[in-house]
Amino acid sequence: PTKTDHQLILMHEFAADMYHHILMNTEEGQEALDYLENRGFTKEMIEKYRIGWALPEWNYMATALQRKGFSEEELVSSGLGIQREQKNGFFDRFRGRIMFPITNESGKVIAFSGRILVKSKEEAKYLNSPESPIFQKSQVLYNVHLARNAIRKNRKIVLFEGFMDVIAAGKAGVDNALATMGTSLTPQHIKAMKRFAQEIVLCFDGDDAGWEAAKRAAIALNEENFKVEVAVLPGKMDPDDFVREHGKEAFKEQIIGKPHAFIAFAMMHARRHKNFQYENDLLQYIQEVLQLLAGRSSPIERDLYIKQLSNETGLSEEAILQQYRKLENKTIERSRPSAPVQEKAPKRDPKR
Ligand code: CTP
Ligand code: MN
Ligand code: MN
Ligand code: MN
Ligand code: MN
Repeated sequence: PTKTDHQLILMHEFAADMYHHILMNTEEGQEALDYLENRGFTKEMIEKYRIGWALPEWNYMATALQRKGFSEEELVSSGLGIQREQKNGFFDRFRGRIMFPITNESGKVIAFSGRILVKSKEEAKYLNSPESPIFQKSQVLYNVHLARNAIRKNRKIVLFEGFMDVIAAGKAGVDNALATMGTSLTPQHIKAMKRFAQEIVLCFDGDDAGWEAAKRAAIALNEENFKVEVAVLPGKMDPDDFVREHGKEAFKEQIIGKPHAFIAFAMMHARRHKNFQYENDLLQYIQEVLQLLAGRSSPIERDLYIKQLSNETGLSEEAILQQYRKLENKTIERSRPSAPVQEKAPKRDPKR
C-alpha cells in the first residue's frame, strides 16, 4: 500500500470510531440506536460490526477530519467529503445515516455504506462510498475479515445479497458469511472466494430479483468449479426477515442446513411463474432443464432428474431421454475442438 492508501485508511478508521461513538454514547445517536434495537441488533452485534451514526449535519465529519490534519485532497479522495461548487468548502457525503464500515481483508475500514432510518422516495436506501484508491466495489466482499476462519473450518462460504443478511446470519451462528456490496457477482469476487473454499451456498432474497441474481451467480460459480448449492427462502423474504420471523434455529437448520443442489435449484427456478396446464410452459420447462443437464451432469444425476421431470410433467422417461440425447449431441458437437484434418467433406457448400 502507498502512503496515500495508508492515509485514506487512517481517515476511515477515524471516521468509523467517531460514527460508532456518536451512536453508542450520545443523545444524538439514540434514535438510530432504537431503530437498530427494533431490528434485533444487540449491543454486541453493533460492536462486532462497528456500526455507527452519521449526524444529519452538513460538515461535521469534513471538519473533524481537517482538524485532524488530513488535507483537502485526501478528504475528497476518501469520498467522505465532497467539494462544494465554486470550491467553496466541503460537505459530508454521509448525513443522517446508520453507518456500516466496509473493511479490507485485514479488517481495516476502507469504505462505508450508510442506511437511511426511514425509507423515502427521494433518497436511496443505501449510500455507498465512491470508488477510491482503497475501495473497488467489484472486488470487495463484506465480512471477509470476520468470516475467514469459519470459512476455512467449514470449507464452505455462505454468500448473501446484503450485509444486513450477513449480520443476521452471524446472529444465528452462521459465521462463514460474505456478501457483495450491492453489485452482482464479478469474476474478481469469484477469484477472491476461490482462495478460501471450493464450496458455496447461495442464500439470496426470495423476491424475483433475488432468484434471478442467484441463478446468474450459481451458473458463474459452477463454471468456475465451485460446488454450488442454493438455500431458498419462503415467499419474498430475505435472510434477515426470516431470522426475525422464524428464529435463528430455523434459519440455521431449515434454510442454511438444507440447501438445494445446483441443478435442483435451477429446476425450481425454471418452474417459477410457469403453469403446466399450458403446453408451451411445459415444453419450455423440459427444454430448459435438459439444456442444463446436457454435457455437465453425471449419469446418476441425469437419471435422477429425468425421473423427476417425468414425474412433474406426466411425460414418459423414454421420450424425455430421447430429447435429452438430441440436445447432448448438439452440446458435444459445439464443444468439440475443430478437427485438424477434414474428417468428412461438407455435403453442401455453406456459401451457396
Ligand atoms: N443496495 C444498495 N443500494 C440500494 C439498495 C440496495 O447498494 N439503494 C445494496 C446493499 O449493498 C444491500 C444489498 O444491495 O446490502 C441488498 O439490497 P436490499 O435487499 O434492498 O437490502 P437489505 O439488505 O434487505 O436491507 P434492509 O433490510 O435494510 O432493507
Ligand atoms: Mn465500541
Ligand atoms: Mn433484495
Ligand atoms: Mn434484502
Ligand atoms: Mn432486508
